[in-house]
Amino acid sequence: MILKVTLLLATLSLVRAKDATYELILSDSALIAACKEPAPGRLNIDGFMDLSEISTTLNEHGVVLAGNVTFVWGIQPQDRIKAVIKLLYLDRGTWTPTFYTVTSNDYCKSMYDSRLPWHTYWLRHVTNYEDVKDKCISPGTKLILETYLLSLAMTLPKLREGFYKVQLTYQAFDANGTERPTNICFEILGDLQKV
Ligand SMILES: *[C@@H]1O[C@H](CO)[C@@H](O)[C@H](O)[C@H]1NC(C)=O
Ligand SMILES: *[C@@H]1O[C@H](CO)[C@@H](O)[C@H](O)[C@H]1NC(C)=O
Repeated sequence: MILKVTLLLATLSLVRAKDATYELILSDSALIAACKEPAPGRLNIDGFMDLSEISTTLNEHGVVLAGNVTFVWGIQPQDRIKAVIKLLYLDRGTWTPTFYTVTSNDYCKSMYDSRLPWHTYWLRHVTNYEDVKDKCISPGTKLILETYLLSLAMTLPKLREGFYKVQLTYQAFDANGTERPTNICFEILGDLQKV
């Protein structure tokens, strides 16, 4: 099955007027994969959140998401979270970084910042924002999502068409700055085509 997903990162400050819009076409029914490179303490998306109450359906416009997610990563509520989103390009068999990287050294401060991509994709669809806005990704926090079309569109300076992945990593640090023993890494793979 070919899922057509338009990646929408349009609110990023690095967008310029001459930029083109690209469409990420996912060639697999699994939107999300585990990171391939092994690392100590690495967990995939199942270690990050419980997706069993999320449903995805395909219509002619793309993927429709509905339901809710619950964070399950065993961190402490006061931990500082570092989050990194990277876009990588498959260049003759080697994953190569692109200029596109978003790093947040204190994710909980910027989690609901409307300029950041995780907000564009899904956090702006959280309906119980008032209940969860101070809980960040503490384990047990449940985000209730309105039913929405997953519109992941990317307006970026010139990129080559080809095979890409968006890799998301999260690390947690205690009050002394010591990293917690587990970290999260997962990725979304697909063909990027100009639209
Ligand atoms: C979470 O999603 C499930 C499945 O869609 C639903 O049955 C349940 O009522 C939802 N829970 C809340 C609190 O919205
Ligand atoms: C931070 O370090 C101090 C001194 O080594 C220690 O007493 C405290 O328990 C540490 N706090 C955490 C959260 O590990």
